[in-house]
Amino acid sequence: MDTLELDPRLRHASTFLGRSPKMLIDGRMVGALSSKTFEVVNPATGAVIANVPEGDKADVDLAVAAARRTFDSGVWAKVSPSEKSRILWRVADLVERDLEELAELESIDNGKPYAVARVADLPLVVDMFRYMGGWATKLGGRTIPWSLPGQFLSYTMKEPVGVVGQIIPWNFPLLMAAWKIAPALAAGCTVVLKAAEQTPMTALRLAEIIQEAEVPAGVVNILTGFGETAGAALAAHPDVDKIAFTGSTEVGKLIVQAAAGNLKKVSLELGGKSPAIILPDADVDAAIAGAANAIFFNHGQCCCAGSRLFAHKKVYDKIVAGVADIAAKIKVGPGLDPATEMGPLVSDEQFARVTRYIKSGREQGAKVAVGGERVGNLGYFVAPTVFENTKPDMQIITEEIFGPVVCAMPFEDDDLDRIGREANDTSYGLAASVWTTNGGTAHKLAQRIRSGTVWINCHNVFDASLPFGGYKQSGWGREMGEEVFHNYTETKAITAAL
Ligand code: NAI
Ligand code: MG
Repeated sequence: MDTLELDPRLRHASTFLGRSPKMLIDGRMVGALSSKTFEVVNPATGAVIANVPEGDKADVDLAVAAARRTFDSGVWAKVSPSEKSRILWRVADLVERDLEELAELESIDNGKPYAVARVADLPLVVDMFRYMGGWATKLGGRTIPWSLPGQFLSYTMKEPVGVVGQIIPWNFPLLMAAWKIAPALAAGCTVVLKAAEQTPMTALRLAEIIQEAEVPAGVVNILTGFGETAGAALAAHPDVDKIAFTGSTEVGKLIVQAAAGNLKKVSLELGGKSPAIILPDADVDAAIAGAANAIFFNHGQCCCAGSRLFAHKKVYDKIVAGVADIAAKIKVGPGLDPATEMGPLVSDEQFARVTRYIKSGREQGAKVAVGGERVGNLGYFVAPTVFENTKPDMQIITEEIFGPVVCAMPFEDDDLDRIGREANDTSYGLAASVWTTNGGTAHKLAQRIRSGTVWINCHNVFDASLPFGGYKQSGWGREMGEEVFHNYTETKAITAAL
């Protein structure tokens, strides 16, 4: 504890930070087999807030063996669907009880404002466990009508896919854990989850909550460690039946290769370059506020961030000036400061990546309307940035920046096919938003956009019941909603001759 520099504003989280957090393997809270740990840093200051276990291949082997044994012996399968629901609801209740503590941990670990974690991330986590808990009692099959000669009775069953490996990123640390663990448990799978090395704290606290909720030993295993070691071992493990990954498109491709060894099932939720498209008849004030929120929420560290801002030339100047004005007024500071509206980027690596993109935008001829600079000289703060004069082949347009940087571009067309084609001119297809007061236009354009989500007059709006995922290189499969169970179930067809 004496080596850690804890922020005096922490009211609930210092106890947990001080008690050397452990991983969860086979129902026990443990350190890494190697006894190694790594430092977790507060991105607002660079100070070390905890040392956590550095799990690697050996720990992954142990965790997968526990999940395999637990799955094969039917420990979780024998728990009735309604009891599974009750257990998932218990996890939700405990997260709700510890909301302030978890929001503080998220803020100090990831950098996001405490208030945002408290009103956005955490309620969504609670809701995810409750919503998915509800599905445990509803995952049935169908009876199938027969056409060929003979008399048969056929029906399908939904069965758990087995041992699931889950690898999550750092932008919504606890929410990503909930998106992954809750549906897998509802489906009857056992889980080995690896948290992101930048933000392991809330996953480790969730591990304690899962113990307290009396999830049977071995059903959920939670590891901390690095991607190249622990993550790669999980993705390649022959006893893992399915891998669910959220992160970069680059690592998504490595996961696919690693999965080939035993042809494990793969679902991927990857990068994006989502357009916010503002039509000339949009409510301009709402569109300005919406386009700013689309990129600046969570410091632009959202896979669905509205990072390409398309505005019709009739409203373009007003929209860009409005978004730049909001950007200039955003209060950037440490997540635990109540006045803060935007915190630091998550890590020195992301800080370097985002500032590199800003430099490349300038070098390739884009114009900075506002921002474009570091804020302060401590921590990883980047000013909300608006680029103008952007061209389709610039790196800042073709690649995901994953920071508070939006690239504005006017369009002249009124033809929806052409607007759709411009919006679709990207290797990604995760999300888009359309801003217009004409309902018909909105839905026609929504149909032309090749992405898993289209928002109309809103952006970054989520519900546990809404499927979310990508077309093209934004991924495979869907998270959330009923759709997520394609990821975690197998369909069995049973036919009886009558
Ligand atoms: P990343 O894809 O390297 O990390 C995501 C997760 O994958 C982490 O848990 C990491 O430990 C793990 N991982 C890394 N290498 C692995 C490997 N070889 N095998 C198995 N697991 C591995 O993402 P990173 O480096 O943190 O961020 C880089 C970029 O990725 C960001 O700038 C952003 O563009 C994108 N990204 C997208 C996210 C999304 O929500 N779709 C979330 C985080 C990052
Ligand atoms: Mg990486």
